Amino acid sequence: MIYSIIVSAGLENIAREELSERFDNTGHLKILERKPHRLIFRYTGNPRELLSLRSAEHLFLMLKQLPNMTRSRSSLAALSSSLTRFNFKETYECCQQVGINTRKRMPFRVTSRLSGKRNFRRIDLQRVIEHALLARGWHLTSGHSALEVWAEVHGDDGYISVKLSGNDMAQRPYKQAHIPASLKPTVAYSMVRLSRPHPTDVFLDAMCGAGTILLERALIGRYDYLIGGDVSTAALGATVANFGRQHQPRQFFRWDARKLPMQRGTVDKIVCNLPFGQTVGNLPQLTNLYRHTLKEYARVLKPRGRMVLLTSQRMLLDDELQHLRFLNVRRRLAVDVRGKKAWIYVIRFT
Ligand SMILES: C[S@@+](CC[C@H](N)C(=O)[O-])C[C@H]1O[C@@H](n2cnc3c(N)ncnc32)[C@H](O)[C@@H]1O
Repeated sequence: MIYSIIVSAGLENIAREELSERFDNTGHLKILERKPHRLIFRYTGNPRELLSLRSAEHLFLMLKQLPNMTRSRSSLAALSSSLTRFNFKETYECCQQVGINTRKRMPFRVTSRLSGKRNFRRIDLQRVIEHALLARGWHLTSGHSALEVWAEVHGDDGYISVKLSGNDMAQRPYKQAHIPASLKPTVAYSMVRLSRPHPTDVFLDAMCGAGTILLERALIGRYDYLIGGDVSTAALGATVANFGRQHQPRQFFRWDARKLPMQRGTVDKIVCNLPFGQTVGNLPQLTNLYRHTLKEYARVLKPRGRMVLLTSQRMLLDDELQHLRFLNVRRRLAVDVRGKKAWIYVIRFT
């Protein structure tokens, strides 16, 4: 069966690494294509296992992929007619494996997505797929039991797929307490991966908000010690609530990240979602925050330590890093964070 996962823009390669790491040695996986926001792969194991991927937002079973979509309405017809004789036997089996009930008159609804210039609209795409499935005896409904069929056209590609994940695939059960500007767990997971987790890690997020990054680190594998802090009592309360009693040893502090009560060279990994502006205020205040926090991060990081930072203030971070020449930017990934362009910096202390 062919599947696809949707990931945040910019994190496709990290999702690819996760997929390979988790499933390559099972002999069930073959990654077929990497597209913006999307990985397409063949998997012969139980699809339920794919629902535990931590970098993915959604999991789909791909019914059809047509590679020659044009602007013209005729390519719409080609997409819908590909369902005329489609054998749904394996689709039903796959749905059952992830706990979706199937029926002969399958209840369904269609979600459509379109990009690029076309001589048809999104609603036209939706309607032709609805008609094709109605013609196969399926039952169009908006009820809870409806199977979500996605019809998409991006670039030259047309896709018809069935959504296997619920809306909770990218959510985490630990995230009970929230704060504004909290990071998506899938992005936090990806940042933690970029820090190259190691069982001996002393791991720090000095602006931890609701604790998403620290929790993703705790869940990815063994560590030596987790340290989190925040200037806001409410944010720290959210971290404590989200951790509960699990994941020891760890310690949380109410502090100003510009002056950390820690000794020089004591931390292996720092992963941090730096404030982007709204929460901090004007540029001089943000500059001050970045300058002094980076100095502190550089002070507490061990030689050969690694830092992964997220910001939408690229120029500001670049300027401040110029003053700290022993911090080497190894990678800079452009990502989309809540519709805003941001960058993940991977920095080595050399
Ligand atoms: C963008 S949020 C981090 C969100 C977090 N990664 C999460 O997913 O919940 C930035 C955090 O930095 C904290 N912060 C701002 N200035 C700070 C400072 N000087 N020292 C410590 N924390 C600070 C804010 O209180 C906020 O919780």
